[in-house]
Amino acid sequence: MDSLAYRETIGKKLAIGKEVLYLTKEECMSTGLDTKEIISITRSALEAHGKKETEMPAKIGIHPLKNTFFHAMPALVPGQNACGMKWVECFPQNPARFNLAQTSGLLIFNDMESGFPLAIMDAIWITAKRTPAVSALSARHLANPDAETFGMFGCGVQGVEHVRFMPHEMKKLKKIYVYDISPSRMDSLIEELQPEIGAEIIKGSSVEQVVKSCEVLASATVILEKPDPQVKDEWLQKGQTLLICDLDSFWEIETMRRADKFIVDDIGQHRHFEEAGYYPYGMPENIYAETGEVVAGIKAGRERKDELIVASNIGMAVEDVVMARAVLDRALEMGLGVKLPL
Ligand SMILES: NC(=O)c1ccc[n+]([C@@H]2O[C@H](COP(=O)([O-])OP(=O)(O)OC[C@H]3O[C@@H](n4cnc5c(N)ncnc54)[C@H](O)[C@@H]3O)[C@@H](O)[C@H]2O)c1
Repeated sequence: MDSLAYRETIGKKLAIGKEVLYLTKEECMSTGLDTKEIISITRSALEAHGKKETEMPAKIGIHPLKNTFFHAMPALVPGQNACGMKWVECFPQNPARFNLAQTSGLLIFNDMESGFPLAIMDAIWITAKRTPAVSALSARHLANPDAETFGMFGCGVQGVEHVRFMPHEMKKLKKIYVYDISPSRMDSLIEELQPEIGAEIIKGSSVEQVVKSCEVLASATVILEKPDPQVKDEWLQKGQTLLICDLDSFWEIETMRRADKFIVDDIGQHRHFEEAGYYPYGMPENIYAETGEVVAGIKAGRERKDELIVASNIGMAVEDVVMARAVLDRALEMGLGVKLPL
């Protein structure tokens, strides 16, 4: 459907230019988009990005407190009439200070033809879901297809969703190790997810144990202005696949430098983060591909069993806007949300 036809469809349910649909987190969740659908939607965003069919400037940010950020994340995916911007926040001390989540945000979804906003929606749920979808798709293309073990560092929002999503793309998964500095976070993840996951979920006893037990590893802990690597490069083996959601905070830079394939979701965005002060030891120069290029089949994923592959997916606005389009379409169909005058 072209953008004018899409506008007409939306215009039957919303007075474009006069009102916006406001969707809370609960309402986004009530759309019922399931894990399979979210993986497929996210795949379409990665493929479009890999084929250079998107417009997405690098995130810009402001940083009010130590280790915090707000990021402005605009994106256009013309093939899907998806256009808008996420304004996302990450405040790692929120749980301890205010009993609030570390990650929050709002997304504005716009009409490509007139520019007017169509919807304002919570972005916590979208972020929680599209991020593990990217990791799961990365695992599908980068991990050994017979991998039976997955290790998750960080058992917060992202940790939970990674454990939920990963079995969809790691078909041989038998054991999932989880590790968090907070033992209660590990316990509650296992309690919540073991009933729905076929693989056995094991509480890790140390970072080293998990690293040495798993073929595929992911981290979603905290993004630090100054990295504090928890994984010693010497613990890692050829054949492993690392899926990093927290920049250079958790892993030694040597690991990225010596990887047989070092992949990032967006090169411009990574360079921008380096300019902002992350990667104080310098961004590894050996970038092999962007994640979307691999997912779209433009560049090969894993080619040999013994490759050490590292993928740094710091999150892309193209993933958010295609998810937002799906949420908006479903919400309008289901009559969810509140229409607010402009
Ligand atoms: N790449 C992306 O697209 C993307 C998207 C969303 C969030 N993130 C990042 O993922 C991270 C987690 O986000 P979240 O919303 O799940 O936060 P969260 O607060 O819900 O969970 C983070 C967890 O990490 C644990 N943790 C902190 N330091 C640790 C350490 N050294 N070792 C083990 N565990 C540790 C905390 O105890 C907590 O349970 C943040 O850094 C966030 O910026 C990335």
